[in-house]
Amino acid sequence: MALVPLHLVISLTILLHFVAAQQTNGSVSVGASLTATPDAKPWLSSSGEYALGFKQVQDNFLLSIWYDKIPEKTIIWYPEDGPSVPAGSKVDLIDRSGLVLSDPQGKEVWSSRSISDLAYAYMNDTGNFVIAGSNSRNIWESFDHPADTILPTQVIPRGGVINSKMGKTNFTHGRFQLRLLQDGNLVLNTLEMFSGSAGNAYYISGTRDESNATNSGFQLVFDTAGYMYILRGNGERVDLTVRDSLPSGDNYHRATLDSDGVFTQYYYPKNPTEATSWRVIWYVPENICKTIDSKACGLNNVCSLDDNKPKCECPQGFSLIDPNTPNGDCKPDFIPSCDEGESNNGGDVFDFIELTNIDWPTSDYVHMNPTNEQTCRTSCLNDCFCAVAIYRDNQCWKKQLPLANGKKDPSQNVKAFLKFRKIDGPSGTGENKNGTGENKSGTGENKSRRTLILVGSVFSSMFVLGIVLLIGVIYVCFLQIHKKKAGNSFPDSAPVETRLARFTYQELFEATDGFKVELGKGAFGTVYKGVIGTKIVAVKKLETMVKDGQKEFKTEVNTIARTHHKNLVQLLGYCDDGEQRLLIFEYMSNGTLAFFLFGDIRPSWKQRSYIMIGIAKGLSYLHEDCSNQIIHCDIKPQNILLDDYYNAKIADFGLAKLLMINQSRTNTGIRGTKGYVAPEWFRNTPITFKVDVYSFGVLLFEIISCRKSVVFDDDVEDVTVLTELAWDCYHEGKLDAFVENDLEALDDFKKLTRYMMVGLWCVQENPSLRPTMKKVIQMLEGVGEVTEPPCPCPFSVTSYCSSSN
Ligand SMILES: *[C@@H]1O[C@H](CO)[C@@H](O)[C@H](O)[C@H]1NC(C)=O
Ligand SMILES: *[C@@H]1O[C@H](CO)[C@@H](O)[C@H](O)[C@H]1NC(C)=O
Ligand SMILES: *[C@@H]1O[C@H](CO)[C@@H](O)[C@H](O)[C@H]1NC(C)=O
Ligand SMILES: *[C@@H]1O[C@H](CO)[C@@H](O)[C@H](O)[C@H]1NC(C)=O
Ligand SMILES: *[C@@H]1O[C@H](CO)[C@@H](O)[C@H](O)[C@H]1NC(C)=O
Ligand SMILES: *[C@@H]1O[C@H](CO)[C@@H](O)[C@H](O)[C@H]1NC(C)=O
Repeated sequence: MALVPLHLVISLTILLHFVAAQQTNGSVSVGASLTATPDAKPWLSSSGEYALGFKQVQDNFLLSIWYDKIPEKTIIWYPEDGPSVPAGSKVDLIDRSGLVLSDPQGKEVWSSRSISDLAYAYMNDTGNFVIAGSNSRNIWESFDHPADTILPTQVIPRGGVINSKMGKTNFTHGRFQLRLLQDGNLVLNTLEMFSGSAGNAYYISGTRDESNATNSGFQLVFDTAGYMYILRGNGERVDLTVRDSLPSGDNYHRATLDSDGVFTQYYYPKNPTEATSWRVIWYVPENICKTIDSKACGLNNVCSLDDNKPKCECPQGFSLIDPNTPNGDCKPDFIPSCDEGESNNGGDVFDFIELTNIDWPTSDYVHMNPTNEQTCRTSCLNDCFCAVAIYRDNQCWKKQLPLANGKKDPSQNVKAFLKFRKIDGPSGTGENKNGTGENKSGTGENKSRRTLILVGSVFSSMFVLGIVLLIGVIYVCFLQIHKKKAGNSFPDSAPVETRLARFTYQELFEATDGFKVELGKGAFGTVYKGVIGTKIVAVKKLETMVKDGQKEFKTEVNTIARTHHKNLVQLLGYCDDGEQRLLIFEYMSNGTLAFFLFGDIRPSWKQRSYIMIGIAKGLSYLHEDCSNQIIHCDIKPQNILLDDYYNAKIADFGLAKLLMINQSRTNTGIRGTKGYVAPEWFRNTPITFKVDVYSFGVLLFEIISCRKSVVFDDDVEDVTVLTELAWDCYHEGKLDAFVENDLEALDDFKKLTRYMMVGLWCVQENPSLRPTMKKVIQMLEGVGEVTEPPCPCPFSVTSYCSSSN
């Protein structure tokens, strides 16, 4: 221990010695250190041209090497990821550790990890910081650990990598890489931000020789004169800097992978006669906006060349997520259309900004050919997925968010119709939390525009169509109507005034052309296609008659009618004509979710996610938000319908109560839909809205995997196969097996895992463990935390986990 003070004394002596000597030969002694302060002196090379020290970047400091004699003091090296440290941080040259950067508390932030015995270090006049060992060997060189820049005399071997920085003042590694691959090619590629893996190359030197590997690229060389070339294994040079293209005179040279993804060689006169700046000698690629793989600008961003440098600009109506990263992602200033109730009344809510010569070539999901401009616009306006429509040569491409690879290209004569919200601001978002979303005692004029839109979507919109109904197995349910807690919405005692149209049987007979076209047969009756006015509707002829039902029918119809939500099929009218009882619903052009999910083509992961959240919202509204709590009791894909734009709408809510008013499950037993029934149906426990949560969980697994929970020709009694499979796959970390290698889903692994966990919580044996639908939505959307779900053991298992209550 006596050594310590002695060591300190020696260090101090050396330090003082060094301070006097630093101007002379660039040497740095072991034990020397620098502290991050605005006026700290750096370690200079002997010519004074290069310096290593702390450079102030905004409020913090960056350990770096820079050109000290040019006014810009351009930075050419920094430790990987450019850690920014507060004032008072230090860098020390420590024996058996090397260069060590630590914060003011003494905690190590970065180190060169040079664990040999050190002799000294020096800032060389090439811009290379070198740590030498006791045997005069170079132990560590900044040239071996390049940041975003290489300098003359520096060589990049195979496997070498240069990372761009994030932005002007952000030295974290950015989105681009220059690599000399093992196969001999020099490439530029984008980095996938989340996985960190290299994307496709957007520049390839072509220095790989397939027939004879010795002729492949071997080193990237930046020679003393300022020429850069790739050296092949056989000694041949492949020039990057064109011969004789270097400017005359004494110049600094550097080649930097700029944060915009362009690899550029620059020069700067050492003895300028006038004010000057870095000038370009050459760069690759030629036009980074043109190469799709470069992703030069982030999502929703637009790339254009400005004086040969790429420039990224968010289109009108969008702004940068991070204002300091202009080539990053842009976000829309409005809420994208699919998240809202009014989404499908395009014209009322959205309009277009017309842009010319801008395209996002890869984001289309619909291509219309041939078409005209007006159809193209209308189609996009009324399609909630459509964010922009591109119109060119009588063709239309509809594109959805996020828009990738945006570029400005005057050579292409395209028109882009970019959708934006007319009524702006965050107040126009979200559901009406006050209940039915309609002030029924008011008239049209004094309602909010939003309410108008909502009502409009039901009664007057050209997109209101009708309903296709279920082919399903009936089961008994009871529906509970509770008065909402005080202060909420409509008290039950208030006169119920609905806008529900009443029809005579004769009118409906005519509307359906004598009940000619059958859309489906459901639990409660048969559904026919009809036309009322100009609207296509679905007319449901109820079969089961309610004894003494006159008053009940009206009450229940009114209950259903005032249950408005964009994810519920809307009741438009009814007929109560003697023995004949019929209900008129919106027509749903895209049929049932069952048809959609289990068809020949697997629908996209994005659409499925969207549908899933829609169903959750509709169900949550039934359970919690509307003036009457409604348990659906028969949630299954046959009972979910899809409108023109694949908005999910729950059908047949409230009908159980309407038609089976005198029945209860105790005297009818369970005849539920196999596979979706919650275990409490088999027990003597109360039926609550948690039965719907269970069924939703099963549905969730079906949507995730596009597999049926029930196969009807399978006589096996155990119908919980899908939930068991879900648990097994989740438990064993084999989600790829569960989604049958659905790459889209696997690509979105975090979300996939979250959805699985939510599903497993929903199908818990014990109803009290299942979350409410409100909680489910939060978890699905990633707002709420999802904890590790326990095993949802099936009711047949009487092990520790069948925790009945
Ligand atoms: C630099 O100068 C110091 C003192 O003048 C000396 O000890 C050291 O050996 C020199 N280093 C080099 C690399 O010349
Ligand atoms: C140091 O710089 C000189 C020229 O100033 C050069 O010849 C030498 O190779 C450099 N050494 C290192 C390790 O970079
Ligand atoms: C640099 O950018 C990254 C990514 O955008 C961000 O996480 C980080 O906080 C930024 N750092 C600084 C110092 O601004
Ligand atoms: C590969 O090229 C080198 C140099 O050009 C030559 O010496 C060698 O014979 C070649 N090898 C083969 C297998 O052609
Ligand atoms: C909901 O009701 C509350 C109080 O009754 C009111 O302040 C609020 O503005 C209403 N919100 C909407 C969206 O109607
Ligand atoms: C509905 O609107 C009418 C007239 O504008 C108003 O008097 C009444 O208070 C409103 N009711 C609710 C529940 O907002």
